[in-house]
Amino acid sequence: MSARILLVTGAGGVGKTTISAAAGVTAARRGISTLVVTVDPAKRLADALGVGNLGNLPTHVTGEPKLWAAMLDVAASWEAIVARHADPEVGDKLLANPYFRAIADRFPAAQAYAAGEQMAEFVESGSWDLVIVDTPPSVGGIDFLLAPGQARDLIGGKLLRWLTGAKVPARRALYRVTARPVLRLADMVLGGPLLEEIADFLLDLRTLYDGVEQRAKGVERHLRSARTVVVTNAYPTPMREARRFFEELPEGSVVPSAVVFNRELPHEWEQISAVPANGSDLDQRSWTALRDNLLRWATEARRNADARADFAARYGATLASTPWKPQPPTDLDALADLVAASNGLDEALFA
Ligand SMILES: Nc1ncnc2c1ncn2[C@@H]1O[C@H](COP(=O)(O)OP(=O)(O)OP(=O)(O)O)[C@@H](O)[C@H]1O
Ligand SMILES: [Mg+2]
Repeated sequence: MSARILLVTGAGGVGKTTISAAAGVTAARRGISTLVVTVDPAKRLADALGVGNLGNLPTHVTGEPKLWAAMLDVAASWEAIVARHADPEVGDKLLANPYFRAIADRFPAAQAYAAGEQMAEFVESGSWDLVIVDTPPSVGGIDFLLAPGQARDLIGGKLLRWLTGAKVPARRALYRVTARPVLRLADMVLGGPLLEEIADFLLDLRTLYDGVEQRAKGVERHLRSARTVVVTNAYPTPMREARRFFEELPEGSVVPSAVVFNRELPHEWEQISAVPANGSDLDQRSWTALRDNLLRWATEARRNADARADFAARYGATLASTPWKPQPPTDLDALADLVAASNGLDEALFA
């Protein structure tokens, strides 16, 4: 039996890793055997989950009998992908190739694809009932869902076809095809040997295609079946990323189960419109500073409330919100409390 998948996505820095971990602790405490695949958690959170240098290897979280955690290691995932899909001697060459390293390490779609294949492995292993997937900062948002198709295009020879114009040529023939201006120019600028090196690399990469194409379809199927929550806050960049789920995803694809506004200010603050001009136990300067600060945050709380209402009205999205905790929630109890103290997050994650 495949595990259920919960995908936690959103723009950089909004709280994806925190909410993934909080969902994991909550599910595990309800008796659901859960794996949280985190990406680069803050140090204290990594310590609480017991993920250090273990990379993709799931480890049991101390004190939580039903909870496991793994930390996505993109480089190790690509090594596994190459081992799965390439002939051994081509695989070794690819892994040693600097172009391959550059693509695997820096290309956002390659990171997302590695995360996707890794997710599929965990889901299909049958070892957990629920796999929670935190997404890398470089591919937060809908790009994570689009990555399998992009990886397929990258490896599938679109680039090669573009370079050579026709069907993918035989290895030797490629560097002799000088019909296309782009190749002629490259030949002039880069010189024969470098061009040969690049062509060689592209042809090696292409041998992954059949495997990756098959696998990418499987990854896409899993992503379509996943429950997805989009984390945001009321600032423009994260909101833009959240809107893309409703504006840019093709018809028939995932509808997020909720858009989660994280780090919400206390809702009581929205009501504050006046604060007395002086207070009893403080000197006047401190009181004025405190008063201005409260009024500033009250304005901000109202701005956030308007942004939420606007989002809900425009897209008919289900919203959830989580409080801004005075201390970053990094231990297991504080994480569980974040879900308990939220508004609608529990339903969004598990209902
Ligand atoms: N509800 C909250 N209350 C207080 N602090 C929070 C809350 N949610 C997250 N944080 C803190 O905000 C910071 C960013 O959170 P987190 O690392 O989970 O974001 P992220 O979306 O995973 O970031 P990245 O895109 O860089 O991976 C962390 O220090 C985290 O402890
Ligand atoms: Mg993160």
